[in-house]
Amino acid sequence: MSRTPIIAANWKMNIGPAEAKEFIAALKNENVCDICVDKVIVPPFVTIPAVMDALNGCQCIGVGAQDVSDRDNGAFTGEISTTMLNELGCKYVVLGHSERRQYHGETNAYINKKIKKALSAGIIPIYCIGETLEQREGGQLESVLKSQVVEGLADLTPEQVAGIVIAYEPVWAIGTGKTASAADAQAAHAYIRSVLAETVGAEAADKVRLQYGGSVKPANAAELMSQPDIDGALVGGAALKADSFAAIIKAAK
Ligand code: 13P
Repeated sequence: MSRTPIIAANWKMNIGPAEAKEFIAALKNENVCDICVDKVIVPPFVTIPAVMDALNGCQCIGVGAQDVSDRDNGAFTGEISTTMLNELGCKYVVLGHSERRQYHGETNAYINKKIKKALSAGIIPIYCIGETLEQREGGQLESVLKSQVVEGLADLTPEQVAGIVIAYEPVWAIGTGKTASAADAQAAHAYIRSVLAETVGAEAADKVRLQYGGSVKPANAAELMSQPDIDGALVGGAALKADSFAAIIKAAK
C-alpha cells in the first residue's frame, strides 16, 4: 500500500496574521508545490483568514485548525464550530493534541465526540496520541496507545478511520529537542497500525496515514520518514520558519 506522505505545521499559539502573510510568501519561494507530499498549515484560529488570503487559491497547501467544538452552535463561549471552519475553507483539524489533553483536561471520550463532529462536517481529523515519559518508563506504552486508539476512534466505520490522519507524538519528545529514535518511532507506529487492524480491519489500517511528531527538524526528518509505518510528520517549532518547514517537506518525498 502506498500512502501519500503528509507534513503538517502546527503553529500552536504562534504567528499572527501579519507574520503569516510573510511566512506564506517565503514558503511560495521554496517551490514546494510540485512535491508529491500533502502539505498542511495549522495556524491559530485568528490567523486562518490571513493564511487563506496569502495562499490566494493555491490548492497545494491545505489549511487546518488546532481544535473544534463538538457542538453545533450556541452559548459555548470561546468555542469554534465545524460550520465556521468550513466557511473559512479548512480541510483539516488537529484533535486531542497532548497540550489540549494536559492543559484543558481533554479525554479520549471527549475527543471522540470532536472527531465524529469533524467527520460529519467533511473535515479530516489529525488525531494526536502519545505517551508521557512516566508511562513509557512504567511499561505502559502499548496500553496507553491502545486506549487512545480504541476510545478516541470508538464507533467510527473502517471507511472513516481509513480517511483520518493519526499523529503519534510522544509527549516527552514535544518541544524538548529529544526525538524518538527512528526505530522506537517505527515500533510505536507499527503497534498503532496493528491495533487499528484489530479494531477496524487490515484494509483500513493499511490506508491510515500515521505521522510522527516531537522535535522533528530538517536534520532528522528523512530518517524518521523512511520508516515503513511513518507517513509524515506533525511539526511544531521547526515549522515556524518557511525554510525549515520546506526542508522537512523535501525530506518526506
Ligand atoms: P515540536 O516539533 O516543537 O516538538 O512540536 C511537536 C508538536 O507538538 C506538533 O503538534
